[in-house]
Amino acid sequence: MTSTATWQTLFINVNIATMDDGSNSYGAINNGALAIADGKIAWIGEQSNLPAFDKSAVDVIDGQGKWITPGLIDCHTHIVYGSHRANEFEMRLQGASYEEIANSGGGIVSTVKATRAASAEELYVSAHKRLSALHNEGVTSLEIKSGYGLDLETEIKMLKVAKRLEENTPVTVRKTFLGAHAVPVEYKDNADAYINLVCEQMIPEIAKQNLADAVDVFCEGIGFSIEQTEAVFKAAKQYGLPVKVHAEQLSDLGGSELAAKYSALSSDHVEFLSEQGVKAMSAANMTAVLLPGAFYFLRETKLPPIELLRAHNVPMAIASDANPGSSPINSIQLMLNMACTLFRLTPSEALAGVTCHAAKALGIDGVVGRLEVGLDADIVLWDIEQPAQLCYQFGVNPLAALYKQGKKVK
Ligand code: NIG
Ligand code: FE
Repeated sequence: MTSTATWQTLFINVNIATMDDGSNSYGAINNGALAIADGKIAWIGEQSNLPAFDKSAVDVIDGQGKWITPGLIDCHTHIVYGSHRANEFEMRLQGASYEEIANSGGGIVSTVKATRAASAEELYVSAHKRLSALHNEGVTSLEIKSGYGLDLETEIKMLKVAKRLEENTPVTVRKTFLGAHAVPVEYKDNADAYINLVCEQMIPEIAKQNLADAVDVFCEGIGFSIEQTEAVFKAAKQYGLPVKVHAEQLSDLGGSELAAKYSALSSDHVEFLSEQGVKAMSAANMTAVLLPGAFYFLRETKLPPIELLRAHNVPMAIASDANPGSSPINSIQLMLNMACTLFRLTPSEALAGVTCHAAKALGIDGVVGRLEVGLDADIVLWDIEQPAQLCYQFGVNPLAALYKQGKKVK
């Protein structure tokens, strides 16, 4: 005897990009149906196979041939910060490089000054606007990093703003502690002492207050060395926090390989990643997070090793890297386009980059990122005829409806 299913919402007449395998076919189901019960996906498949269901209880939505995808995931952002860096943008237009500006006291540390001076309320209001811009484009989960405080008090202030954003919006927020983002002015010429502070005081306190889901390091010539990065990874592991790294953005220090030794979730940027680094990431089951916005905005020319990543089956996520210096871009739809135009990803790879692979980069791939029975019903309904349109056009938002854990929020 078969029982009758009880669902709250049922989409019919939809095409579904399940993203269940991250392959080149979007895991597509044509003429599909998808049912939601208790905030989770309860049934998915071809409409012709729909089982019996209790018609009195369910809200049936006729999708009229539109497409459904998982809620989008922006797995690398720095959206909590004070002020802006338009002045540095102008300096770069006059010929100064990102590294020159950083080395002469601008760059990240100038945002640190503004972020320390800002109240939590001011940070919340400006970050809320950025989060809303991403959410309007279909983002239902995102990561927010700290790293513009570089002292315990301000790092905690930033992480608490990220927490408040999660509490007050229908968006899942993963919080990452990025104390090792730059050397603060009070530790100028004494980066090792600052790293000690990060390891011995900041990580223990942030872990104690349960304010971070992961720990990140900017491993770079203008950031931290391999040895300093490793010290932070060790401290994070001691407190049970997973690690990730900003690496191989401007040069190849081997940060991704080091991260692989610590079973990192991801290595991000990776333009200068070597084949050895790719192999290490593959063996450690890491995700490569590609950031086309920073590549574009800094007018980089060295492309990430896409062919090698494909050849070694390293999942590629795509994120906005939204931040005031290298990517003041709060648009996931533009990232989909740039992943294809700048990095030559296929539209299916790009969409996997903001769904299943982004979920893996955040360690939440058992919860969101694919449309599969039992996962959260984070769902976008798009007014498009084929999924490639999400990557092809930019500036007209095709979002028709958005559901977070089964609830319609747009
Ligand atoms: O991901 N690389 C380090 N962090 C940021 C830039 C931060 C900034 O310039 O304010 C990034 O590109
Ligand atoms: Fe970043």
